[in-house]
Amino acid sequence: MKANQERIEKHIKALSRYTATPNEGTTRLTYSEEDLQARIYIKEQMEAYGLEVREDGLGNIFGKLEGEKKDAPSVIVGSHFDSVPHGGDYDGPAGVIAGLEIAALFQDNQVKPVYPLEIIAMIEEEGSRFGGGLMGSRGIAGYLSKDDVQETKDKDGISVPEAMKKIGLDPSLEVKRDPETIKAFLEMHIEQGPILEEEQISVGVVESIVGLTQLEVTIDGKAGHAGTTPMDRRSDALVAAANIISKLPQIAMEEGEGAVTTVGRHQVFPNGANVIPDKVVFSVDIRSSKEAHVKNVVQKVKNLVRSWEANGIQTAVEQSLYMQPKELNKKIRSILEASCAQLGTSFINMHSGAGHDAMVLSDITDVGLIFVPSKDGLSHCPEEWTAIHELAAGIEVLYETALKLTEKS
Ligand code: GLV
Ligand code: MN
Ligand code: MN
Repeated sequence: MKANQERIEKHIKALSRYTATPNEGTTRLTYSEEDLQARIYIKEQMEAYGLEVREDGLGNIFGKLEGEKKDAPSVIVGSHFDSVPHGGDYDGPAGVIAGLEIAALFQDNQVKPVYPLEIIAMIEEEGSRFGGGLMGSRGIAGYLSKDDVQETKDKDGISVPEAMKKIGLDPSLEVKRDPETIKAFLEMHIEQGPILEEEQISVGVVESIVGLTQLEVTIDGKAGHAGTTPMDRRSDALVAAANIISKLPQIAMEEGEGAVTTVGRHQVFPNGANVIPDKVVFSVDIRSSKEAHVKNVVQKVKNLVRSWEANGIQTAVEQSLYMQPKELNKKIRSILEASCAQLGTSFINMHSGAGHDAMVLSDITDVGLIFVPSKDGLSHCPEEWTAIHELAAGIEVLYETALKLTEKS
């Protein structure tokens, strides 16, 4: 059954409007006004496709089509709908729209599944507001306690429950899903790299996902006057931070085997041109497909940071996220591959260098993840783009797979 390209395009265009930075990419932070607008749109579409809609205690959105079998576990399809600052229209939304289109195809074809079909739109995968990332799926998997959620704050000190209440969400609702209620999770995502486009392949069936961790490094120094404090009497937190940051690429390259380090966020305090900085906070994102490399790099970064503890400089390193590399379920992979073969859709097996909600949910259920091409391999930027017919090809593979897993009757 063909996916409806007009419907897919309508959803892409609609969600792209909900950005805090019009004409400068998609900026849709979790629980923001733009989140609320996108949320209303997604819920309306779910209802139009005959789904029963609910939100959990983190604001993850679920739309459920009941199955014929009583109390049977659901096949869940979807992705996240938050974005990085000035990101693109596809990272996350492509997978949410895949879920919506699959629900629409079930409705068009009057499919009565044996197992329930649930479409999901998750929050805060990117960690752009609250740090760390994968928050929606970590909540569903039961990795976040009420205290964790209460203590998680954005850069302005607003906690998750406070931010939720501002857009009318109820943080007292349950988040953790009993794994017994889930049969499988399927996600479609843009590749965010160049391989599928270069090799002119429609679909990547993901075999494994990179291991990743994020550190939050704090350097404390001493503030002072930029004109009157002699150079040899300074404890400049930014000079220490800059020295540390400049050595991180070397650590990754020496580790080898594709290990990568990135400092993507940093704050300087008090942030005045004529004041010696007394505090710098920066993130370090560390990834490798082998856990041992992630651990080695973490240790080297910690040692490097600690080596700057002298002359009034103090340091602290906190780990805000740790995810082991993940192998995805072989049975689901082979159903995805069979669906590609049945539809005549070209595919290859791939490794993911990006983190995905699929890697968290693979701890509690059988997971399948497919990629569709990204133009010029670009992502996390306004130029991120995938053709509608390429999205449709991936959605058709996921639809066939969802039919098999829900055992349509
Ligand atoms: C998500 O985009 C990630 O890989 O951090
Ligand atoms: Mn992303
Ligand atoms: Mn994503």
